[in-house]
Amino acid sequence: MQNPVLEAIYRRRSVRSFRPEEVSWEDLREIVRAGIWAPSGLNNQPWRFVLVRDRAIRELLAAQTIYKKVVLAAPALIVVFLDRDVMYNDLKDHQAAGACIQNMLLAAEAVGLGAVWLGQILKNEGEVRRILALDDKLSLMAVIALGCPTPTERQAKRRPLEDFILKTF
Ligand SMILES: Cc1cc2nc3c(=O)[nH]c(=O)nc-3n(C[C@H](O)[C@H](O)[C@H](O)COP(=O)(O)O)c2cc1C
Repeated sequence: MQNPVLEAIYRRRSVRSFRPEEVSWEDLREIVRAGIWAPSGLNNQPWRFVLVRDRAIRELLAAQTIYKKVVLAAPALIVVFLDRDVMYNDLKDHQAAGACIQNMLLAAEAVGLGAVWLGQILKNEGEVRRILALDDKLSLMAVIALGCPTPTERQAKRRPLEDFILKTF
């Protein structure tokens, strides 16, 4: 396949084990930049981010999820929030968050990193906000764990395309 965007979409798989090398701030900022170029309703850009490389903070966040091992193994995290002060429509703002997160997963792939979207941690949203010392106008959307992928996994499959197309006219 020739197209780099399609290549990244098809090659990307969730990565849950990482080599210990650190992730540069430059790469993290590039990934977030890709995130903020996602579409949002009324172009309200409701997303906000906390970038984490600090080991002590990662340990505190790891304790908030059953995916503790993944969070501890990842040398960097991007914690994604929506800012309620600029949200205008719950459904559409959450859709925008999803677009933003997917852009970041693809950008991670593009810079040679592996990543996984962690949602299970949302059940401890209050604790996550407390650890990061954030205002409760910020609504937790996901934690993205990132790092250099170890050469394993990437085995998630998809059902055939025809299973999903309801009708063609
Ligand atoms: C909303 C959402 C929440 C997710 N939460 C978790 C999670 O808490 N832990 C985890 O290991 N993977 C999580 N994932 C990743 C999915 O398990 C993964 O995307 C799916 O199995 C398909 O695999 P792939 O990403 O390799 O194609 C989440 C994905 C989404 C979109």
